[in-house]
Amino acid sequence: MSNIKNIAVLTSGGDAPGMNAGIRAVVRTGIYHGLNMFGIRRGYDGMVQGEIFPMDAKSVANIIQRGGTVLKTARSEEFRSPEGRQKAYEHLKKLNIDALVVIGGDGTFTGASAFLDQFDIPIIGMPGTIDNDLSGTDFTIGYDTAINTVVDAVDKIRDTAESHDRLFVVEVMGRDSGLIALRSGISTGAEAVLIPELEVDYDAIMKRLDKTRKNKSSRIVIVAEGDKEGGMVVADKIQANFPSYDVRLSILGHIQRGGRPTCMDRVLASRLGVASVEGLLEGRKGEMVGLIGGQVQFTPFGKAIKHIDKVNTNLTRIVEILSL
Ligand code: F6P
Repeated sequence: MSNIKNIAVLTSGGDAPGMNAGIRAVVRTGIYHGLNMFGIRRGYDGMVQGEIFPMDAKSVANIIQRGGTVLKTARSEEFRSPEGRQKAYEHLKKLNIDALVVIGGDGTFTGASAFLDQFDIPIIGMPGTIDNDLSGTDFTIGYDTAINTVVDAVDKIRDTAESHDRLFVVEVMGRDSGLIALRSGISTGAEAVLIPELEVDYDAIMKRLDKTRKNKSSRIVIVAEGDKEGGMVVADKIQANFPSYDVRLSILGHIQRGGRPTCMDRVLASRLGVASVEGLLEGRKGEMVGLIGGQVQFTPFGKAIKHIDKVNTNLTRIVEILSL
């Protein structure tokens, strides 16, 4: 039997489609198990400022389909210091909150680890970031929606590229990770994909672009935001190498973070929301809940934030083989 009676949930870091589905699942699972549920506004900053309020089943009605996060999200300088975290802890204690579910990415789990080191309060994390850059889960909440947004945008860019015989360099999000670039590149038939995890071989890319000229009148090169040089430099390099090409750059930006979550993100968030509360009730803490091969798995925060091995280099081969 668990002693946990009151759980609070927050979202932190960059928002991601599906976070609302996750909040809904956490709140309703808690209520299902007879617990009192609370929401914390604006992530850790709201926790430091005491922006904590009760949530009931109705407060999460009609949000499963909405992008963004109804709890809002923010960065918190204060929470980085032990004094800031002490303030946050006191607000939790005043309301007898005895466990937390935090939804976010690596910064969120780093903050949760620091809080856990200082205070004995169980915390479970849910992976919510469009970048998919966490270990311990095949996919993060928001990634599927974001790549579908990218695919939709690049398909449109392809139409105009084809009409004008142009080459488009498209920069997509992923501060430290090429996972958005890689999947969207395969599914839009990109001729090349540049990601921070792999050394870029410009000679090979230029050769490939030149070779593809006989079969295609448009070309798409996808560059992850975290690439060493970024979309603008890549576009300039391609233009300098092929002066006769009509090269354009499109930076997709925050459009990738918004919008209605896909079915996959809603189901993922719902499953992880249920598992996070039930994990707390089983006595778990300091872990992120994820899905690996369709099965719920818990991974310590420290391991979850190291995502180095997540890029499947077979996928880059597929881009190359299919770019002919
Ligand atoms: O972490 C998700 C992410 O979308 C990154 O890919 C991107 O670099 C970053 O957020 C942008 O953050 P902000 O909205 O704070 O500029």
